[in-house]
Parts: sequence; structure tokens; C-alpha cells
Amino acid sequence: AIDIKALRASTGIITLDPGYKNTGSCESAITYLDGEKGILRYRGYKIEDLAEKADFLEVAYLLIFGELPTKEQLNKFHNDIKEHLEVDEDIKKIVDSFPRTAHPMGVLSSLTSALTAFNPSVVDINSEEDMYNAVVKIMGKFPVLAAWTLRRRNSKPYDYGDSELGYVENILCLMFKKPNEKYKINPKVVDALDKLLILHADHEQNCSTSTVRIVGSSHAGLFASLSAGVSALWGPLHGGANQAVIEMLESIKQDGGDTAKYMEKAKDKEDPFRLMGFGHRVYKNFDPRAKIIKKSADDVLADLGVNDPVLTIAKSLEKQALEDDYFVKRKLYPNVDFYSGIIYRALGIPTEMFTVMFALGRLPGWIAQWREMRLKQEPIGRPRQIYVGENQREFVSLDKR
Ligand code: ACO
Repeated sequence: AIDIKALRASTGIITLDPGYKNTGSCESAITYLDGEKGILRYRGYKIEDLAEKADFLEVAYLLIFGELPTKEQLNKFHNDIKEHLEVDEDIKKIVDSFPRTAHPMGVLSSLTSALTAFNPSVVDINSEEDMYNAVVKIMGKFPVLAAWTLRRRNSKPYDYGDSELGYVENILCLMFKKPNEKYKINPKVVDALDKLLILHADHEQNCSTSTVRIVGSSHAGLFASLSAGVSALWGPLHGGANQAVIEMLESIKQDGGDTAKYMEKAKDKEDPFRLMGFGHRVYKNFDPRAKIIKKSADDVLADLGVNDPVLTIAKSLEKQALEDDYFVKRKLYPNVDFYSGIIYRALGIPTEMFTVMFALGRLPGWIAQWREMRLKQEPIGRPRQIYVGENQREFVSLDKR
């Protein structure tokens, strides 16, 4: 029998913390989060103020470079990004080689990784100038690739949008522009998307961000690290929750809309079903982003004249959860993605693109965290373990097994 006690003793002082629930991996000056009080700030600025008063590109600049940009800095940033929208023609062949049914997140992760092959200079980032060049390159190309995952699915031609548009406007244009037609901007849609991207832009050491930092800590390039971040975000317990929430609300609707039945299912420990969009590793009071987004969902749906029955189901689930002992005791509140899918749907974004939208928002956060990690010359990330496998065994040759 394995003497686990002796093994543990022999490994020195190792903190065992599965899921890193209480382990800090770095010091960071980017995002402040107080899960008990429901506070979120980027570089010291309240998320509520940024969502209300800033636009996504300003917030991206703030996160990455540490200060709100002046008008000149912001214009230059945007113009430099616009210079870098184009990708190598061969990337189109790679996009075309994916099955049309492939999930856009898998395609986006692969394309982001492929970008390194076509931009080898971004692997060696040795100065702030190298960093700036890599930032504007990826801020330009990432939305193009993200939109092309949708264009591939819908068999639409690849396009670079409209260089006269703002950053967020062009994301919509990249996805939805029809050939030989000027894309018509709906300011309400742009405004709602801008808010959503800001709310998703950073969230300190979550699963995808930690992934980006840990991949980068081996001095792998920025784009390779970002590609790993996209993969980490894809899962339904993280960014994939926004797609999972809408699919759950849809199936509750199709099943007659009996929300109480699904509340019971979520509480049943024998049943793997979880109420998607509820609970958070860090927020144990409320998710401040969910508050802003809930109001935004109401506004956007009213503005666009959309009457979405899944919103009624969502509100009913939220109300029941707030009054339910199981959810109250475990401090399970709606998170940012409980309502984001409803807004994305109202904006005409297909369900399988929801997590890609999240990735577009999180991009500046990932970049900021990667830059910080490299500037601070952090050591390679390398957690330890407690070995609980077999003790040393004698090898048995194949003919004797
Ligand atoms: N539905 C039902 N029960 C839940 C839920 C839920 N959504 N979330 C947590 N619980 C229960 C767990 O079963 C556990 O119960 P127990 O104490 O009886 O064992 C308790 O609440 C604590 O849950 P953990 O899974 O230990 O909490 P953890 O911090 O590891 O997980 C997570 C957080 C992954 C977000 C979890 O709440 C979850 O799966 N939620 C649904 C998926 C989701 O919405 N993810 C998006 C997160 S936000 C984001 O990434 C942008």
C-alpha cells in the first residue's frame, strides 16, 4: 500500500490547492476585484464608469499600457491597428480547410496560432517598440480571423470590413457585410456591443488569462500564448458558458418553460446538470458586470423592439434562485454570461459565435497580462504536485504480463 503520509512528508513544503482556489500566481497592477463586495476596477477605474463613459478601444489602451489615452494616442492606436488588418493570403486557404461545421472557437485558436508562422518577428519581443508593434498587429488581425470563422460557416467571402469605421463598428461589418454593399451601422447595436466588450476585457487571473501568462512564461510568443487563451476560454465552465446559457434557456422553453423543474435538477447531486450562468469562483455576493448587463439587456431589447421569450425564462430562474436556500447558501448569483447571450442574440449574432465575442473582448486583457508578466520577468510557471501513484515497481517483460 502507498504511504501517502510519508510521501507528502518527503516532498517538502508544497501547498496543495486543486483549481488554485486560494493560490496567488502573481502580483498584478491591472485589474482589482473584490468578490465579497462585488467591486471590479481596471487600472483603478470603476467598471461602471468605463462601461458608461469610455469606448472599447480606450479601455483596451488603458489595460495594455496602464493609462487612459489622450485623443492623439487613441487616434494613433486606432490608425496603427487599421494598418494591420490584413493577413497573409495563405491564411484564407487554412480557413477554407476547416469543416464548415467546426466550432468557431477551435478555428480561432488554430488561426491565432498560425499567425505566428506568418509573423515570425512577433516571437522575440525585446522592447516596448516590439511590444507595441505586436499589439497593433494582433488587435487588427484577431477580429478579422474571428469574423472569418463565421464567414467560413456561412460560405461568405472573406473581407476586411470598412477602414472608415470605428473598431467595434468594424467588428460587426467584418461579420455581416454583404459583398458590394456598404454595411449599415445601427448605433444602438454598436453601443451595446461596445459595453459587452468592455465588461469582458479583463478579469484578473481567470482560467484563460492564467493560461496566457503560463504559456508566455516559457517565453513562447504572444500569439501562441493568446491561442492557448482562446482554447481555455472555449470550455462551458468559462467563456463557453454564454453559449451554454442560451442553449439551456432554449431547451427549458421547448420543454414547456417549467423553470422550477430545472432548479430542482440543478440541486440534485446525482444529476450533472448545472444552472449555466450561475455561480462564480470569485464573486460570492454579486457579479457587478451582471448588474450592468441585466440593465443593458432590458434596454437593448426595448430599443430594438425585440421580444425574446427566453428573457422571461431567464428572469424567472434568477428570481427563484434568489429565494432558494441551495443557491443562497452557496452564494450562487447570475454571472456576466447569464444575460450576455440574450443581448448577443438580439444583436443578430449566432449562438456559436457568442464565445468568440467574449474572446474579442478579452483580447486586450490577455495582452496586458502577458506584457506585465514579461516586463516583470516572471519565472516560468511550474506548479508542483503531490504524487499519489505506485511506489517503485519491478519491470515485467511483455511475455510475462
Ligand atoms: N448550478 C448548480 N450548482 C452549482 C452551480 C450551478 N451553476 N455552480 C456551483 N454549484 C454548486 C456546486 O455543486 C457546489 O455544491 P456543493 O458545495 O454541494 O458541492 C458549490 O455550488 C460550489 O461550486 P464549485 O463548483 O465548487 O465552485 P467553483 O468555484 O469551482 O466553480 C463555476 C465556479 C465553474 C463558475 C461554477 O459555479 C459553475 O459551473 N457555474 C456554471 C457555469 C458558468 O456559468 N460558468 C461561467 C463562469 S463566469 C466566466 O467564466 C465568465
